[in-house]
Amino acid sequence: MSARLIDGKAAAAEMNQMSLERAQHLREKGIEPHLAVILVGDNPASQTYVRSKEKACERANIRSTAIRMPAETTQAELVDKVRELNADKSVHGILVQLPLPDHLSADEVIDAIDPDKDVDGFHPVNMGRLSIGLPSMVPCTPAGIMVLLKKYGIDPAGRHAVIVGRSRIVGRPMAMLLINAHATVTVCNTRTPNLEDFTRSADILIVATGHRDTVNGSMIKPGATVIDVGINRVDGRLYGDVSEDAFETAGAMTPVPGGVGPMTVAMLLSNTLDIAERKG
Ligand code: GUN
Repeated sequence: MSARLIDGKAAAAEMNQMSLERAQHLREKGIEPHLAVILVGDNPASQTYVRSKEKACERANIRSTAIRMPAETTQAELVDKVRELNADKSVHGILVQLPLPDHLSADEVIDAIDPDKDVDGFHPVNMGRLSIGLPSMVPCTPAGIMVLLKKYGIDPAGRHAVIVGRSRIVGRPMAMLLINAHATVTVCNTRTPNLEDFTRSADILIVATGHRDTVNGSMIKPGATVIDVGINRVDGRLYGDVSEDAFETAGAMTPVPGGVGPMTVAMLLSNTLDIAERKG
């Protein structure tokens, strides 16, 4: 069997076109949608991600302000910057690019973000609301995955969804979204024994570990839907967390690149517009 390709690039292009229209509509009403992104230090991958977020905003006619702070920035300086953006009425969404340099606490910075401006949906208030099934800002990567599943007619209700990885950015919110969509959910981590026993029973398998070849074709149930969240750069080439032989076994699968990645940025624009439309 050869998996049906889940084309995140095409789905994101459609969403971005809608975002452009939404932004125009807001501007006609005198509202300029505005995303502020804070980047601390000089992590090369983070720099690339922030640049791609800026470019995507520009294409969708959303104002973006990137605040680049030096690696030596203190916790107090960073929290002050977040508070300044909380108070700035022109700013709708605030995002602090992760990971932060080791001496800074991501938890403390995220806690400082106004939950109503938390485009990443990482604030405990938003995570808490999501976990009890209330409306909330939803983290961009898992939100994008839910859009892809819907677009490809893959309904999680009654299916076994297995998530490999329990991060704040993907694994945990993904579990909540799939629970809310009536899936039976298993979340695996680095201490899960015999990972393949779990992955092989998945109808929907989400892999978000940040390690190439976490899952290969022999670990997948034939016909399963496989969502590969990994972006691992090796010798200038991008690899996911799932080996390429999985395309032979899966029923549908996201490629890397061109799968989940473009959807993350598309959802960021959409979350920013949601806030601007709510608040004006
Ligand atoms: N680093 C990797 N992914 C993300 C994300 O979705 N949001 C933020 N803020 N940082 C990230």
